[in-house]
Amino acid sequence: MVKNEYNFKNRTALITGGAQGFGLDIAKRFLNSGAKVIIWDIDAKLLDIVKKDIKNENLSSDIVDVSNYEEVEIATLKILKNSNIDVLINNAGITGPTEPLWEYDVEMWNKIIEINLFGTFNCCKAVVPNMIENNYGRIVNVASVAGKDGNANASAYSAAKAGAIGLTKSLGKELADKNIAVNAVTPAGAKTRILDQMSKEHVQKMLSKVPRGRFLEVYEFTSLVCWLSSEENTFSTAAVFDISGGRSTY
Ligand SMILES: NC(=O)c1ccc[n+]([C@@H]2O[C@H](COP(=O)([O-])OP(=O)(O)OC[C@H]3O[C@@H](n4cnc5c(N)ncnc54)[C@H](O)[C@@H]3O)[C@@H](O)[C@H]2O)c1
Repeated sequence: MVKNEYNFKNRTALITGGAQGFGLDIAKRFLNSGAKVIIWDIDAKLLDIVKKDIKNENLSSDIVDVSNYEEVEIATLKILKNSNIDVLINNAGITGPTEPLWEYDVEMWNKIIEINLFGTFNCCKAVVPNMIENNYGRIVNVASVAGKDGNANASAYSAAKAGAIGLTKSLGKELADKNIAVNAVTPAGAKTRILDQMSKEHVQKMLSKVPRGRFLEVYEFTSLVCWLSSEENTFSTAAVFDISGGRSTY
């Protein structure tokens, strides 16, 4: 399959939840396309493995919980001491367990919203002022088809991702008079570790709704994120880009 390179030379990209799955694949393609990449994750062990596996001087990482604004602000300032942040990929996320709303643990429900939605807000709040100063920025918020359709037994996740879509539309308009693009992407299921958080039946049900009849491949997702994050994307903003294999046709 074709994996195009993009021109990310002299660009610095921050990817949250970048120690595995979608985030790590995006990091690799950005590095191959000439970017400096910083990955944030809460999984310190995985970050160590990634650093050992990818020996690239353009890659750095930090242990950051995106749901904690103070941590996000401190880590952002650390990056800004050395460079601007041109690209922000708000990718960190959890689905949480598969349960009907009335049986959902309250703490878990809050945590899912805090990571997926507040995490996206926290990172945008910390990074956007630098983008405004430079009149340049590309932000991609990783939502989900669950945020458009609503998945049964995933009320917190669906609500958090719907929130991230609303945030994208709003922030995109706030920044539309500048060379800053803010977009959301709504993938269907891909085989990453996140699927382990949900029941097998739930995953099978998700798959059965996809007209393409298969899981999304991680590299297919990365390709869409790359274009949205590139300098070439000068017009699309405040928009939601679907990558659900025909499941969600709006
Ligand atoms: N894989 C899918 O089927 C699918 C479908 C739709 C949307 N998504 C979304 O894509 C994004 C990436 O998911 P993935 O499939 O690569 O999952 P993943 O579990 O492989 O990776 C997610 C990463 O986020 C990190 N993370 C979790 N909480 C964090 C926090 N508070 N602060 C910082 N990092 C944190 C995890 O440690 C992990 O490394 C998520 O937002 C997810 O909701 C995934």
